[in-house]
Amino acid sequence: MAKIAVLPGDGVGPEVVREAVKVLTTAGARFGIALEFEEGIVGGAAIDRAGTPLPPETLSLCRASDAILFGAVGGPMWDGLPVNRRPERGVLLLRKELGLYANLRPIRLFASLVDASPLKREIIEGVDLMMLRELTGGLYFGEPKGIIPAPDGKGEQGVDTLIYTTHEIERIARVGFQIATQRRKRLTSVDKVNVLASSELWRRVVTETATEFPDIELDHMLVDNCSMQLIRDPRRFDVVLTENTFGDILSDEAAMLAGSIGMLPSASLGDGPGLYEPIHGSAPDIAGQDTVNPLATILSAAMLLRHSLHQEAAAAAIEAAVSRVLEAGYRTPDIRQPGRTVLVGTAQMGDLVIESIRKG
Ligand code: IPM
Ligand code: MG
Repeated sequence: MAKIAVLPGDGVGPEVVREAVKVLTTAGARFGIALEFEEGIVGGAAIDRAGTPLPPETLSLCRASDAILFGAVGGPMWDGLPVNRRPERGVLLLRKELGLYANLRPIRLFASLVDASPLKREIIEGVDLMMLRELTGGLYFGEPKGIIPAPDGKGEQGVDTLIYTTHEIERIARVGFQIATQRRKRLTSVDKVNVLASSELWRRVVTETATEFPDIELDHMLVDNCSMQLIRDPRRFDVVLTENTFGDILSDEAAMLAGSIGMLPSASLGDGPGLYEPIHGSAPDIAGQDTVNPLATILSAAMLLRHSLHQEAAAAAIEAAVSRVLEAGYRTPDIRQPGRTVLVGTAQMGDLVIESIRKG
């Protein structure tokens, strides 16, 4: 029996997670995988009910589970709080506490969505890259951090610290090279070596680690150039390895290659249970309207089966079902296209995927 912690969170989180649980249940039944789900509170919902974005019970539930299915956190109600007490802290603490240092964000364009992207078909057709983001270091967690009086006595200063150690760089680089081994054997390491000391170390350690993987072709790219190349020539990329903040920004940009941020799943892996979440946020403006695209979370559930439960056939079946539903023309508003497509809501999209898994 595999135990899955379910953390819906805020905004559209509960809606998309509900669909992903439905899909997991269906895939579990079809492939004979016994799954047990237990819900926990996180983010703004947890601030309201327990006074903290990551209550200890939620953390222990996650530690006692085989995998975590996560929705989204945040919303305007909590915007006034200082950064260290905001809903987002919930997911950041989970990543840190569980040591989820490797964040896999596959960017794959489903053939039937090629016209849903604002980018030209001849540029994006066939895009298939893996964004690998370091997730527990860098600016997000470096100390000192905070707002303190300015040394000149005039006002305050906001401080964030960008730190990377050899160990942190080495372990994420190894994950990157291993992933590349199973793909097209190319890895692009992204940094800002012309300005940042942390990047100087990053580039050196990645280059050294590459000697363990002689069949992988490594190149280095500055982050500003990478943001341009992702739009100019996205098919040149196979695995893109980068630090926390750069990866956050580049993955939203890369989402446009897949048609919509509502299509992009993620897996956050470390030594314990993995965490699976859509890369989009809580989208409070469309919450509760049954319009959000659940496919990013459904595809995250497929990653959960693949990476945490080692159920490749079930994972592939979910992905194939999503592909068939899109080919049949069903679209949520974010991927709506002119022509022969049928607009559906969140729950209906989930039902269509389930039906397709059962038939497939
Ligand atoms: C993401 C999100 C998070 C991040 C937020 C919600 C803290 O943008 O997963 O990309 O910045 O990591
Ligand atoms: Mg982000």
